Amino acid sequence: MNSRREFLKYLAASPLLTEYSAFAQEVEETLGARLTDPSEVINVFEMEALAREKIPPAHFGYLQTGVDSDATLRANRAGFTRFQIRPRRLVDVSSPDLSIDILGTQAKSPIIICPVGSQGAYHADAELGTARAAKAVGHHMILSTQSSTAIEAVAEARDEPIWFQLYPTNRWANTVAMLQRAEAAGCTAVCLTIDLPGGRNTETQSLLMREDDRDCSVCHKGQAKPIFKGLDMKGVMLNDSSLTWSVIGRMKEVTNMKVLIKGIEVGADAALAVQHGADGIVVSNHGGRAVETERATIECLPEIVAAVNGRIPIIVDGGFRRGTDIYKALSLGATAVGIGRPYCWGLGAFGQAGVERVLNLLNRELTIAMMGSGTPTIASIGPDYVHDVGHRIERGRMGFGLLD
Ligand SMILES: Cc1cc2nc3c(=O)[nH]c(=O)nc-3n(C[C@H](O)[C@H](O)[C@H](O)COP(=O)(O)O)c2cc1C
Repeated sequence: MNSRREFLKYLAASPLLTEYSAFAQEVEETLGARLTDPSEVINVFEMEALAREKIPPAHFGYLQTGVDSDATLRANRAGFTRFQIRPRRLVDVSSPDLSIDILGTQAKSPIIICPVGSQGAYHADAELGTARAAKAVGHHMILSTQSSTAIEAVAEARDEPIWFQLYPTNRWANTVAMLQRAEAAGCTAVCLTIDLPGGRNTETQSLLMREDDRDCSVCHKGQAKPIFKGLDMKGVMLNDSSLTWSVIGRMKEVTNMKVLIKGIEVGADAALAVQHGADGIVVSNHGGRAVETERATIECLPEIVAAVNGRIPIIVDGGFRRGTDIYKALSLGATAVGIGRPYCWGLGAFGQAGVERVLNLLNRELTIAMMGSGTPTIASIGPDYVHDVGHRIERGRMGFGLLD
C-alpha cells in the first residue's frame, strides 16, 4: 500500500493528471479506507476511493482512463458548472416520481446503466451483479459487446429486456450474427457505438499498469469475449472505420430491434441520425475515452436537443456524478442520463450491493433536486429550470467531490 501511495503522489505531481489524481488520493487517505459497508458510503466519490483500493491497479487504470492528457474526461465534469438550477416554489412535490418510458422500456429512474466492458475485471459478480442491482433498484441496462458474461445470462439476471451495445466488426456477417444473438436473448434495442473509428491513446491506463506487478498474460491469454463464441474472428477488427450513415438502414434490414446511435456530439450529426432512421441517440464522448479536447457532453446537449426537436429520445452520458448533474441534463431536454464509471466503482468496491448503493445514492440526490425545484415528475422538468451562464465557472465547491 505504501508504494501505491507513493505512486499516487507521483501521479498527483504529474502535469497529466494533477487535479483528478490529487483529489482521489486525498479521499483515499482520509475517508475511503474506513468504510466497510455500502450503506456507509455517502456519495459516488467515496465509492470511487473504495474501488481504487479494491480493484487491481491495471484494471482500475482501464476503468479510470481518459485519452492523452484526460482533458475531455475533466471537461465532462467542468461542463456542469456552466448550468445552474432555477427552482420554483410552492408546488406540491409530496409524491416525487422518477419513472420514465423510453422506446417502450419502463424504468423506475431516468438513470440508465451504460455499457462498460469487461466487468469481471472489477469484481467476480461482474455483469450479473450489475444486472441484479439494476433489477433490484429498477434501472434500465445496456450491455457491452465486450461483456465478460454471456448476454443470455445477463438478460435473465435483469429479468426485463436489456439493450445490446454493438461494436461493429469489419466483417458484416459477424455483426449480423451478434445482432441476431442479442435479439434472441430478448434485447429490444441495439446501441451502435460510433465514436472509436481510429483507436485511442489511454495514457492514464498505461501509467497505472506500471504499478501492477502481476503477469497480465496469465489471465488475458487467448481470451475471447462470450459474444464472439462460435464466430470466426480471425483477422477481424472490433471497429469498422469505413462505416457511414447507411449503416442504420443496413442494421434495420437484419434486426427488429430499435436502433440507437451512441457517440453523437454535434447537432448536425443528430439530424443525420434522425434522417437515416435512428430510433434514438446517445450523446456521448465515451466518457472522455475517444477524442481528446472535446466539449463536455452537457455542453453539446442544447444544440442536439434543438436539432432533434423532439423526434426521437436522447440519452446523454459523461461525467454524471450528482443528482443535480442529472437534473440539469433533463432540464436541457435529455430523455434519460447514462452512467458508466460510478456503478463500476460500486461493483469494484462491494459487488452487486455496491452497484445498488450507487444507484440509490444518485436517485436520492435526484429526488432532492426535483423536490427542491418544484418538479415532482421527470416530465415536469423543462428548460425553465436551468440557466446557462455561457461559460464554465472556475472550480470551487461545485460538486466535483468531497474535498473540493
Ligand atoms: C471502463 C469503461 C469501459 C467502457 N466500455 C464501453 C463499451 O464497451 N461500449 C461502449 O459503447 N461504451 C463503453 N464505455 C463508455 C460508457 O458506455 C459511457 O459512455 C461512459 O462511461 C460515460 O461516462 P462516465 O464513465 O463518466 O459515466 C466504457 C466506459 C468505461 C469507463
